Amino acid sequence: MILVTGGAGFIGANFVLDWLEQGGETVINLDALTYAGNRRNLASLAGDERHIFVHGDIGDFALVSDLLARYRPRAIVNFAAESHVDRSIHGPEDFIQTNIVGTFRMLEAVRAYWHNLQDDAKQNFRFLHVSTDEVYGSLGKDAPAFTETHRYEPNSPYSASKAASDHLVRAYHHTYGVPVLTTNCSNNYGPYHFPEKLIPLMIVNALAGKSLPVYGDGQQVRDWLYVKDHCSAIRRVLEAGKPGEIYNVGGWNEKPNIDIVHTVCALLDELCARSDNKSYREQITYVTDRPGHDRRYAIDAGKIERELGWKPAETFDSGIRKTVQWYLQNREWVADVQSGSYREWVEKNYTGRAL
Ligand code: NAD
Ligand code: DAU
Repeated sequence: MILVTGGAGFIGANFVLDWLEQGGETVINLDALTYAGNRRNLASLAGDERHIFVHGDIGDFALVSDLLARYRPRAIVNFAAESHVDRSIHGPEDFIQTNIVGTFRMLEAVRAYWHNLQDDAKQNFRFLHVSTDEVYGSLGKDAPAFTETHRYEPNSPYSASKAASDHLVRAYHHTYGVPVLTTNCSNNYGPYHFPEKLIPLMIVNALAGKSLPVYGDGQQVRDWLYVKDHCSAIRRVLEAGKPGEIYNVGGWNEKPNIDIVHTVCALLDELCARSDNKSYREQITYVTDRPGHDRRYAIDAGKIERELGWKPAETFDSGIRKTVQWYLQNREWVADVQSGSYREWVEKNYTGRAL
């Protein structure tokens, strides 16, 4: 068995679905079901005995210890986190609690469990921590992409909390010998992406006739990777990664935000034209910038490609088309996640920001 945390969220759910589709062993899925966790993401697994869902917190030492003792997983993949930069600016506390304290408590439970494993089980056990390129901070326009040895320079409460969790994971390897792996990935996009993040927000706002809020000048650069390629990278690292190592994961696909928004508009114009036949671009509105907004991220994925033979399967063109099509075909999912608390968030983050 494997234990996955945060498997009802965007990347975690894609990972669990792909893992089981590819014949992987049973998954125990531990998720606290915060606003970002959604059991509908896993609806296709209803009745599948290879998926055991547990509603709970990674920071609950007793619960995690009990799950480890009961199911004896050979590996853990840790997705559970607070993940949205803007929310970390409005309220950092939850980020400290889950990303730092939660990771620490889980590592404590894992350390005790791993310590008592015997021979092969002990040697083969893996704790894979899913992290982000944001821990490296912001790059200058022409600076080389982040490698695994780039210094940590997190700029938001979110990235600082992820950086702290990465350091704890590293320390549990160096101090106690726990066989950990860390992946630092760039921006994901694809099915089940919560519409607080750029790409799904643009799609759902466009279709609802709302404005498309671009922060600042829209020239901030991100590297984008289709979520299923991130999942395949994690599977590969789990299979062949060397304990204690870090692997950067990315799509060699840097783009300014405004280009992403234009691409989404063009695809919607083609696949679901506005009734007045004008472009969705008309809905773009520039709004005040995110405080401390990182200007550029770029990932050098050379190490995982060279050492583990991983490569993304999708180009940005193929991945973004699939993504827009998914949102057009899953309007009920969108309506379901746009609950009261979602509306409150949109109001809190966007009111009064139009330039
Ligand atoms: P998400 O916000 O969509 O999902 C997070 C999941 O974790 C939710 O299901 C939530 O209920 C669960 N969770 C939150 N706190 C928990 C707790 N205390 N105990 C148990 N479960 C808890 O996030 P995501 O975008 O799927 O990101 C998953 C991981 O990947 C995060 O660690 C994030 O930092 C990292 N990451 C994300 C991206 C990206 O582009 N989204 C890129 C690189 C790395
Ligand atoms: O780089 C990996 C990170 O990517 C992950 O660690 C985070 O969990 C994930 O949320 C993502 O962080 P970003 O801050 O890059 O993603 P977001 O979708 O929030 O924003 C992408 C870019 O778009 C960023 O430069 C801010 C901008 N933006 C975002 C929103 C929500 C806008 O211009 N308008 C918006 O309304």
